[in-house]
Amino acid sequence: MLRARRATVAAALLLGVFAVTSWANPPTAKGPAAARQLEAGRELFEEHCSSCHGLHGEGTKGQAPSLRAAGEGAADFYLRTGRMPLGQVGDEPLPGEPRLDNAEIEALVRYVGGLGKGPPIPKVDPAKGSVGEGMELFTESCAGCHAISGKGGVAIGGYAPPLDEATPTEVGEAIRTGPYIMPRFSASLISPAQVDSIARYVQLTQEPEDAGGFGIGNIGPVPEGLVAWLAALVAILLVARLIGERLGGSRADDEAEEPR
Ligand code: HEC
Ligand code: HEC
Repeated sequence: MLRARRATVAAALLLGVFAVTSWANPPTAKGPAAARQLEAGRELFEEHCSSCHGLHGEGTKGQAPSLRAAGEGAADFYLRTGRMPLGQVGDEPLPGEPRLDNAEIEALVRYVGGLGKGPPIPKVDPAKGSVGEGMELFTESCAGCHAISGKGGVAIGGYAPPLDEATPTEVGEAIRTGPYIMPRFSASLISPAQVDSIARYVQLTQEPEDAGGFGIGNIGPVPEGLVAWLAALVAILLVARLIGERLGGSRADDEAEEPR
């Protein structure tokens, strides 16, 4: 009798627990699928990333940074542009074909995003941006390294790659992440709306036939950089000559006016 009552109480309790958990975590397609994706991400991370970034993304001194504050944005950027997984410690992370497939990238991005509170994948919509504002911002903040044509160039301490393959999302991710020696721009420096404009301008440079006026950009990044330097040099020489003439002239005047 007592046993039977205990059994029913236990059964009722179990049922209650089950009801509460399934209410809190409804068995929609999303819950278990998300959990499975996260688990897949963890396994992929162990296999491809943990040798450098540590088993839980804590980083390894002298080898690879902690990913606790990297966020989905940095993970998506580094994986989609083929920079990660890095082949060997000490290699420079270079862009190229993604090394993992789309599902693997998505799983890893969720996993790395879950390691801490990093920036999310930015939502970039070039259609909402303005070409004029984009060009102005690009000239101010990006052209120094990537050249006004977006064809890339030589930056101090590294090579700024051409942006002709960069998707709008990658432009936003690069702005927020600041890969390698590129500076990181927070939302207070470049707002999300301004990111839309920059992405729109970058798209324009990717279609030179529509953009027009970037003729020399097609020779390649280095000659274009040289052209810019030559133009600057000519300007400096002109200014120097003007100053020289002025000084020369005034000195002559002084001499003429000097009382003897
Ligand atoms: C051979 C060592 C190595 C392996 C393997 C590796 N990484 Fe990295 N990772 C690095 C180094 C070194 C950096 C720093 C590079 C830099 O500053 O651009 C880095 C940087 C990153 C960053 C940027 C961090 C930030 O805060 O901006 C992310 C994200 C990242 N790795 C993710 C991954 C993922 C995901 C994998 C596995 C698919 C992986 N890495 C595998 C060495 C490695
Ligand atoms: C100080 C120089 C510098 C400035 C300023 C700079 N970048 Fe970069 N950028 C770089 C370097 C160097 C890389 C390559 C980093 C790497 O390989 O990890 C890069 C990478 C990128 C990439 C990734 C390209 C690819 O295909 O992998 C994008 C997109 C980008 N930058 C956009 C921008 C935008 C937009 C701005 C302005 C808001 C900007 N950058 C400002 C130096 C710079």
